Amino acid sequence: MTITETRGIAELPEGNELAGRVAIVTGGTRGIGAAISRALVGHGASVAAGFTHDRSRAEAFRAELAGTGADVTLHQGNVSSADDCRRTVQEVIEEHGQLDILVNNAGITMDRTVGKMADEDWNQVIAVNLSGTFFMAKVALEHMLERGTGRIINISSIIGQTGNVGQVNYAASKSGLFGLTMSLAKEAAFSLKREGRLETHGAGITVNAVAPGFIETEMLDSVPEKVLDRIRAAVPVNRLGRPEEVARVVRFLAADASSYITGQVWAVNGGQEM
Ligand SMILES: NC(=O)c1ccc[n+]([C@@H]2O[C@H](COP(=O)([O-])OP(=O)(O)OC[C@H]3O[C@@H](n4cnc5c(N)ncnc54)[C@H](OP(=O)(O)O)[C@@H]3O)[C@@H](O)[C@H]2O)c1
Repeated sequence: MTITETRGIAELPEGNELAGRVAIVTGGTRGIGAAISRALVGHGASVAAGFTHDRSRAEAFRAELAGTGADVTLHQGNVSSADDCRRTVQEVIEEHGQLDILVNNAGITMDRTVGKMADEDWNQVIAVNLSGTFFMAKVALEHMLERGTGRIINISSIIGQTGNVGQVNYAASKSGLFGLTMSLAKEAAFSLKREGRLETHGAGITVNAVAPGFIETEMLDSVPEKVLDRIRAAVPVNRLGRPEEVARVVRFLAADASSYITGQVWAVNGGQEM
């Protein structure tokens, strides 16, 4: 079975805990992002799904979810452009009236060993994975601080925790998200407190990271089957992860009831890093 054939197991709806919430999911129309969009709409949220290249794929995804009655809009933009990030967040707030949840999921790899890595390979990966998260979070947080509530969830990677041959750019971008997440979590709480809006029983504003292990998406399509076998063997539960298994953690963190969890890294990796 190829990796792509195993995709598409939707998380079953368990409740309506995100009803009335509006979420942006960058890269939200395929791979892990699509599973996150499905999980959030499955629990009552409206989803603004971002994409950058593949409009026909994005339209097909929206049509699939619209068929279930979900409220989904599409937003094209390149997260490595600060202007695109500002425009996209503004577009979402205008169309949906508010923004409650930001999931920074868009990401790329450009793998080469360090001697062969071009400046552009480094710059591009940092620009999309790390700067993109910063640009999106900066503009979203401003709106969340005005409203006094919000959730920011950054999709990092096990590679940010362990490093990997051929991935100095990717590992640096994903490790960078840990520091960014903790600093934003502190700043968000600090700003609410300073304004006297840090309510004991309120949803507040939290910022967390999720660090998946190796997950069955197109991102792994270029990895040779022999290497995937070695990865499976290194995972205590002996398999790759599914996008839905990452999505359920994001959905959990997105809920109002998760207000006491902030500045944390949630691993979803089959026990690979312990
Ligand atoms: N798969 C894994 O094993 C794994 C493990 C750990 C962490 N992750 C992380 O999880 C996230 C999703 O990975 P995935 O496996 O689902 O990847 P994927 O299948 O390759 O999808 C990547 C998504 O990011 C979007 N994207 C790429 N560049 C963008 C840009 N410049 N601006 C806006 N959107 C952009 C793509 O949009 P288009 O559809 O328009 O191209 C696509 O929706 C990434 O951050 C990745 O690093 C993945």
